[in-house]
Amino acid sequence: MYSIQTKDLKKIYKSGTVAVDGISIDVEEGEIFGFLGPNGAGKSTTMMILTTLLKPSSGEAFVAGYNVATQQKNVRANIGYVQQDITIDEYLTGRENLLLQARLNHIPKDQINSRIDDLLNLVELDDKANDAAITYSGGMRKRLEIAGGLLHRPKVLFLDEPTVGLDIQTRQKIWEYIKKIHNEYKMTIFLTTHYMEEADKLCGRVGIIDHGKIQTIDAPSSLKNALGGGIISLTIEENPSKAELVSKIKQIEFVRDATILDDTITVFSTKGTEVAPVIFSVSSSLGIVIKSVSITQPTLDDVFLSFTGHDLRDDSTQKSYDRRKEYRKMQRMKT
Ligand SMILES: Nc1ncnc2c1ncn2[C@@H]1O[C@H](COP(=O)(O)OP(=O)(O)OP(=O)(O)O)[C@@H](O)[C@H]1O
Ligand SMILES: [Mg+2]
Repeated sequence: MYSIQTKDLKKIYKSGTVAVDGISIDVEEGEIFGFLGPNGAGKSTTMMILTTLLKPSSGEAFVAGYNVATQQKNVRANIGYVQQDITIDEYLTGRENLLLQARLNHIPKDQINSRIDDLLNLVELDDKANDAAITYSGGMRKRLEIAGGLLHRPKVLFLDEPTVGLDIQTRQKIWEYIKKIHNEYKMTIFLTTHYMEEADKLCGRVGIIDHGKIQTIDAPSSLKNALGGGIISLTIEENPSKAELVSKIKQIEFVRDATILDDTITVFSTKGTEVAPVIFSVSSSLGIVIKSVSITQPTLDDVFLSFTGHDLRDDSTQKSYDRRKEYRKMQRMKT
């Protein structure tokens, strides 16, 4: 049995916006599965359907074996959900917030205090438990919410953008807690993010989502490996034989293509570290001096770009535009 399964799931809002456009995923028990996508991709909408807060327009979804549209109570009993926006009551203390949530979740009275103590300890908020949440930092608030999502020991934990808006150190801390929770409780975790690094660090598998559609699903490392083994960038001293060098580089094994712009040659290869030394010997045989060389491995950012044709961030800089062009080219070479 899958922890989460969706079949051709669709959500069209009354406004006509197609937020989720035929998503089919299978998430195994105990996986950390991530939805990686830009603003408006349909991540929260999918999560709201899976947590029974929204009805799908068509298609089906099952969580912990229950149908989200027809067995909502069973689904809710088995999930924890930490929403994208902060939902804690700032005027209550950390402990009071958890007490309130424990009562709402009908946790047996004799277990409430011990569970709260354990969770406050897990997210390292014991010291601050009796302070009003209004005095908490953004990271502490998120930790309190994550503790709240774990109170009834759910089989599946949903985290919608768990670190959005937090600084990098706080984000890293939250990642540690998520890993700790996963190790300790062995639960399935489904998270959404638009941070590459977050998906890379936490998720066993990532689904890249854009415009309501899944573009690809795989382990972060497989996604990166599929793009090939490296982009080699060389700057050379001016030389009349540079065109000949480029054409010779193109004939080297494992080279997909090479381009030249002024004094910079860019080589697309499947095995960057093996190709580079051959380039050195070819250029020295032509008497061409290489001034600098760099080999970059594809990042999840590059993967995203190659599947969607655009960046995760909205502010496209010239650099990302150039990289986009490079990747379109690589895609063409692959086909
Ligand atoms: N209640 C709503 N009514 C109409 N359209 C909506 C509603 N909620 C979301 N949308 C639209 O549906 C699309 C998907 O939104 P959603 O919030 O699911 O994206 P997201 O991937 O979670 O984005 P973000 O990264 O900004 O949280 C967007 O175009 C959004 O404007
Ligand atoms: Mg969202």
